[in-house]
Amino acid sequence: MRIAIIGTGYVGLVAGTCFADSGNDVTCVDIDERKIRMLQAGEVPIYEPGLEELIKKNVREKRLFFTRDLTEAVTNAQVVFIAVGTPEGESGDADLQYVLAAAEQIGKAMKQYTVVVDKSTVPVGTADKVREAIRKVTDIEFDVVSNPEFLKEGAALDDFLKPDRVVIGVDSERARKVMADLYSPFVRTENPVLFMDTRSAELTKYAANAMLATRISFMNDIAALCEKVGADVDFVRKGLGSDKRIGYPFLFPGVGYGGSCFPKDVKALVATARDYGLELDLLRAVERTNERQKKLLVTKAAKHYGSLEGRKFGVWGLAFKPKTDDMREAPSIEVIEGLIGKGAQVIAHDPVSPHTAKRVFGDRIRYASVPYEALEGVDGLFVVTEWNEFRHPDFERMKTLMKSPVVFDGRNVYDPARMRELGFTYYGIGRR
Ligand code: UDX
Repeated sequence: MRIAIIGTGYVGLVAGTCFADSGNDVTCVDIDERKIRMLQAGEVPIYEPGLEELIKKNVREKRLFFTRDLTEAVTNAQVVFIAVGTPEGESGDADLQYVLAAAEQIGKAMKQYTVVVDKSTVPVGTADKVREAIRKVTDIEFDVVSNPEFLKEGAALDDFLKPDRVVIGVDSERARKVMADLYSPFVRTENPVLFMDTRSAELTKYAANAMLATRISFMNDIAALCEKVGADVDFVRKGLGSDKRIGYPFLFPGVGYGGSCFPKDVKALVATARDYGLELDLLRAVERTNERQKKLLVTKAAKHYGSLEGRKFGVWGLAFKPKTDDMREAPSIEVIEGLIGKGAQVIAHDPVSPHTAKRVFGDRIRYASVPYEALEGVDGLFVVTEWNEFRHPDFERMKTLMKSPVVFDGRNVYDPARMRELGFTYYGIGRR
């Protein structure tokens, strides 16, 4: 099939590469000239394990192309994916200007029957708006499909190539056949393509993210209660997760959820409901808990030290989660801003995100190129992202480097009893 993907962000680039790898002819379009030039030269603008190799392979085998020319890409395509950004609008709702601008351009460029697919995370009713925007500028036949993406950063290729399910909102038999054909290499009996109407597909995406965010905030609340009553959240988590109806994933308490999806999508869902006169109180509480959680480590530190003025702290982990260089809504921002705001100095290490972090913090903090460098003479260490390299450090070496051996473990990566045995003052989340 000939495919055009509009928008080479996380979702567009991964989807385009995976569709090319399954034998399609894919052209990825972006207005960002620098990005397109980088991609044409075989460089990948984001860090995602395995992506660079897969892009190179498909470029070499001439199935994957990058261009700024939307018209040319769309004219030749049978299926066009809209994968542009949907940033947060003024009242928390998703801003659709880029999606609708792309729709209009697609309408103007189409030369034959085309399946136009909303891949961006878009509020309920967007497929109808996209259809209207295209209809206004063309008489050519087309269908609009909603196909939200569920991939996780850091595991994007695996998630795309072996999805739990593919959700497709479609109201035409012709488009349904095209989509079934396109996804047939990625699906098996146990991970089906679920066909439904476009509104249900659009809502499924938000509901999934809101449910996962709810689990995290719920566990963060339980962790707070554990600390009050003298229980250990790690036992409680295992006890809960072993119930098959509940399951283990997404029950890890921590420094709050971040990233480009959960915070934005929870807000957008609340805003959509409000547009329809419905107040989603549960999700508003989920957000409140998350705000509190992002501040928790600094609250604990302020209590431990009294004043943070003039103190120096190490931070391990800046990206919003391991295996990505993405800093969007990263809990490290709240932690570091909190520390700096209280007059402390920060030296931070992250295995892959110093370049993205520098855009956020500039020279207001120092960057360590190896983890131990972030410990020299510090009053304490904050572990904010659970990168594997932080899991089994040389604790004795840490102690000799640090001015005082205090660890604020925002991801519960260390065993509290062992840390105390080793002579650390240890603060976890919801642990005894
Ligand atoms: C998420 C969804 O998982 C994905 O389906 C959707 O398409 C996009 O949003 P992503 O943002 O890449 O993916 O990251 P994810 O791994 O889901 O983590 C989100 C945040 O929740 C991270 O900040 C992570 O640290 C946090 N988290 C996750 C927890 O605090 N506890 C957990 O148990 C799991």
